Amino acid sequence: MKTKRILVTGGLGFIGSHTVVALQNEGYEVVIIDNLSNSSLDVLAGITQITGKTPEFENIDLREKAAVKSFFDQYTDIEDVIHFAASKAVGESVTNPLLYYENNISTLVYLLHELNKKEGARFIFSSSCTVYGQADELPITEDAPVKKAESPYGNTKQIGEEIIHDTCKTNVDFKAISLRYFNPIGAHPTAEIGELPIGTPQNLVPFITQTAIGKREELSVFGDDYPTNDGTAVRDYIHVMDLAEAHVHALQRLMHGKEKNNYEVFNLGTGKGNSVLEVINSFEKVSGEKLPHKIVGRREGDITAAYADTTKANNELNWKAERTLDDALKSAWKWQQVVKRKEEEEN
Ligand code: WQD
Repeated sequence: MKTKRILVTGGLGFIGSHTVVALQNEGYEVVIIDNLSNSSLDVLAGITQITGKTPEFENIDLREKAAVKSFFDQYTDIEDVIHFAASKAVGESVTNPLLYYENNISTLVYLLHELNKKEGARFIFSSSCTVYGQADELPITEDAPVKKAESPYGNTKQIGEEIIHDTCKTNVDFKAISLRYFNPIGAHPTAEIGELPIGTPQNLVPFITQTAIGKREELSVFGDDYPTNDGTAVRDYIHVMDLAEAHVHALQRLMHGKEKNNYEVFNLGTGKGNSVLEVINSFEKVSGEKLPHKIVGRREGDITAAYADTTKANNELNWKAERTLDDALKSAWKWQQVVKRKEEEEN
């Protein structure tokens, strides 16, 4: 019997591509939908290089409702979807909210509309710890209250979860899990795939590696006056391969009927918080590079600290983040060196 194919939307993106590798490593056949707005076909080659298997690929923009329908008319076997495709830059969402509501919400509705026609489709949603804002208690459990989003990006994740939950309430045969990521960092150990920020990186780790490689002058540390051990903000940095593997465990939970109800939420983190300065120290240790950095004022909208209570994911998903902060930063640095070499070869 032909293995049922898994659809990964945004499968050429940072977390999506690593999840495709994890799915293929588990023997699944993968179909990727990506509109290449924030990725490139080099990523498809990278995936193939790692696993020896080229996923099927459809260059589709999920904002085109008719294109989404014709995809499912063609791929009638697909009833498992991991949905990454979305815009994810917090700052950009503030300056261009409608782009975020169209690209992150309309696309989700079109996908759910098609899946609702099937018997027992299964859906894994890429959400974010940003829905908690600054949680009142740490570590953060899944029962922590969802707070008013600080950005349209964060709002699209909250609204997305509610749309999925409402869909599950009306269709008991439809099963879904929202995965709330903490801070994904690092790259596949082969350095065949990794994070490819377009323009100036907003996130800490790609800015660190681009500074160390000489592409950026120095890292600005956004504030050292937070109520933390060293004054810099604390986050739960999780290796992207640990995160990818958690998606396979979540899908298998639904495939094997282990879910407690047809809509569930899981926090995906290491359970450990690290400050910006601790990340810099770890990077300098694993890379042997001195990282030029300076302390500047806080960034608007940043929270003091966030790290996950991983009990539920560890117990229910039979999954635990195994890789360390050092592992993640080492892989990020190896990837950055490969990117630089490829850029030099192209020029
Ligand atoms: C981490 C820490 C910064 C850059 C966001 C989104 C979240 C997810 C991950 C998409 C903070 C500090 C950063 C820099 C710095 N995105 N920093 N100098 O803001 O925790 O989370 O990205 O899914 O949804 O909210 O991640 O990497 O931007 O920042 O000092 O140049 O590093 O202040 O304390 P963040 P980040």
